[in-house]
Amino acid sequence: MTENDIRELLKSVKYPGFTRDIVSFGLVKGISIDPKRCEVRLSILTENPDVVRQIVAGVEAVLARIEGLPPGDIIVERPALDRGAQARQLAKATGRGPNGLPGVARVLAVASGKGGVGKSTVAAHLAVALARLGLRVGLLDADIYGPSVPLLFGVPADVTVASDAEGRLVPVERYGVKLVSMGFFIGEGSPLIWRGPMLTKALSQFLNDVAWGELDVLVLDLPPGTGDVQLTLTQTLAMDGGVIVTTPQDVALADVERGVKMFQQAEVPVLGVLENMSFHVCTGCGTQTHLFGDGGAARVANRFGLALLGAIPLVRTLREAGDAGAPVVATDPDSDLGRLFLEIAENLSRILGVNAEAGHA
Ligand SMILES: Nc1ncnc2c1ncn2[C@@H]1O[C@H](COP(=O)(O)OP(=O)(O)O)[C@@H](O)[C@H]1O
Ligand SMILES: [Mg+2]
Repeated sequence: MTENDIRELLKSVKYPGFTRDIVSFGLVKGISIDPKRCEVRLSILTENPDVVRQIVAGVEAVLARIEGLPPGDIIVERPALDRGAQARQLAKATGRGPNGLPGVARVLAVASGKGGVGKSTVAAHLAVALARLGLRVGLLDADIYGPSVPLLFGVPADVTVASDAEGRLVPVERYGVKLVSMGFFIGEGSPLIWRGPMLTKALSQFLNDVAWGELDVLVLDLPPGTGDVQLTLTQTLAMDGGVIVTTPQDVALADVERGVKMFQQAEVPVLGVLENMSFHVCTGCGTQTHLFGDGGAARVANRFGLALLGAIPLVRTLREAGDAGAPVVATDPDSDLGRLFLEIAENLSRILGVNAEAGHA
């Protein structure tokens, strides 16, 4: 019985919930046998202990069926936890970007403590604004619960995603932004299980398989909230900076705190807070009303020592732009709203150290 024989046998162990096996998923990192001992090293990304248990039990069962095999050890590694360090090592060795994605200079994550605060709207407008500044921009909609980038950019959810000669996914381009959305891959009616940790695993797997080309900034629309799925993602894709979108209510304070902690845990620098639906401008008289309270995000930002990166008003045009699949920064860049997003984007590009003329630092 050789190491290769064992590897072949392990192909009978499926990743729970998937039709693919753990070998083809790249989970089996090493097998060694000597007369006294046999060792199988697994590298499992998921935060879900049930999945880990099931995989280990499957491997155990395979090993138990092999006659004359010395006592075995199954060692489970958690690669996600030091992905940042790995990526930095890799960057040094290969000249890749510091985030480990080839050709991508900076990864900017947009997060929120809960859904419905306008995270996707803000991420989409920032991406278009960054592109208008002359940067090469990608937008990855990693929101497995409610992918909205297809809608925001007017891309049909069932769009055919092409692959290049190497089998890598080719992003769909709109308004100068290269788009990849989970919405392109999960149908409307796909079972809920696909939207949980399993999908995160699949997502992490194929994230490294997108043909982004050369990008100055990849904007990531994270799923709302700060649970395991989000943490796995922040750990999988070494990110260069995170922003947290919030509304001005005081109750949002706890949400922002969780967001900050999530980024800190994954060693992602928090670049600041963006307040959305900050105030309402009356279309008739131009009066500004702070429907959800005044200065909430500024207080929150202060409390955590973060910058308030901007305050975006609650305006009908923004919702309509979303529904029409036409971001305001693209259709009306000289409007107040267009200029506001461009200003925020300029500020962020400075913080991230990317600019159109010089490329990234
Ligand atoms: N500043 C805003 N003014 C008006 N409507 C907004 C604003 N921001 C977001 N919306 C609307 O609120 C809804 C939720 O926004 P979305 O970006 O999908 O939130 P999230 O990604 O946080 O769940 C959408 O219908 C969007 O058009
Ligand atoms: Mg969203």
